[in-house]
Amino acid sequence: MPLVTSKEMFEKAYAGGYAIGAFNVNNMEIIQGIVNAATEERAPLILQVSAGARKYANPTYLKKLVEAAVEESGLPICLHLDHGDSFELCKDCVDKGFTSVMIDASSHAFSDNIKITRNVVEYAHDHGVVVEAELGRLAGVEDDVKVKAEDSSYTDPDQVQEFVEKTGVDSLAIAIGTSHGAFKFKGEPKLRFDILEEVSKRLPGFPIVLHGASSVPQYLVEEINRYGGNMPGAQGVPEEMLRKAAEMAVCKINIDSDLRMAVTATIRKYFNDNPSHFDPRQYLGPARERVKEVVKHKIQYVLGCGGKA
Ligand code: G3H
Ligand code: 13P
Ligand code: ZN
Repeated sequence: MPLVTSKEMFEKAYAGGYAIGAFNVNNMEIIQGIVNAATEERAPLILQVSAGARKYANPTYLKKLVEAAVEESGLPICLHLDHGDSFELCKDCVDKGFTSVMIDASSHAFSDNIKITRNVVEYAHDHGVVVEAELGRLAGVEDDVKVKAEDSSYTDPDQVQEFVEKTGVDSLAIAIGTSHGAFKFKGEPKLRFDILEEVSKRLPGFPIVLHGASSVPQYLVEEINRYGGNMPGAQGVPEEMLRKAAEMAVCKINIDSDLRMAVTATIRKYFNDNPSHFDPRQYLGPARERVKEVVKHKIQYVLGCGGKA
């Protein structure tokens, strides 16, 4: 089976009241950990590559690894560009065989966001590739781009219909209070489900995407800090909120930070317990297992997409 787009995945997820996990990938062990979990759970999967991941690992290497994952697992897997910030970047991913791209022009004015997104949609659709766009701005850190809380903004439901009609986009990321990274809320975690509800009324049956959806599990924060790390005040999105979003119109839930933490906690502990070891397989192997455990947990308790492949 070749790489697939997210079209059919989202149709089924919307109808079934669950979400597809979109996990960020940067190397072989992370890809294998995610795919091994999805294989055991028979879960459809989106593997996403950011501009930073492209720079780190080279998009062709990542694509070949993901193709190996498709061949080995037989799962429906969509290869997605995460937070593409220009037509050129999106085009390059389309040309390299990605099956989905995100154009994130959410920092631009509404009319420019429409123009930039429309351009990408035209090129991508001509090549059988689907497009995600963003309206509203999440706070947090992506690559070198830091969005301060005061510069972030919730999605305005009054804009979504016009945006989708004028761009022809296939899915829409909205800002309802999540943010990127491991420090998401200052006080009580709060998501604007009223905005999600309102958006889904304006766009019946249309797949919504939730970025910044790591839960930042306390046990991983503690493990990182026990073995020399320093993550004070880390806080993620409570799992019950994510489940609720998945039952609503959210069809794609983006997770990166939790996997980063799983890898880091495992390697920190490994070197604490085995200070003389120096074979990378000895610590990358357990890190890969830990990624698998975290992804299995997400599929079972957050996404609800197990058995849907
Ligand atoms: O939303 C961003 C993802 O967590 C990717 O992070 O840009 O550092 O690869 P990155
Ligand atoms: P987290 O930082 O919450 O994992 O979000 C990842 C994300 O939204 C990738 O686009
Ligand atoms: Zn994101």
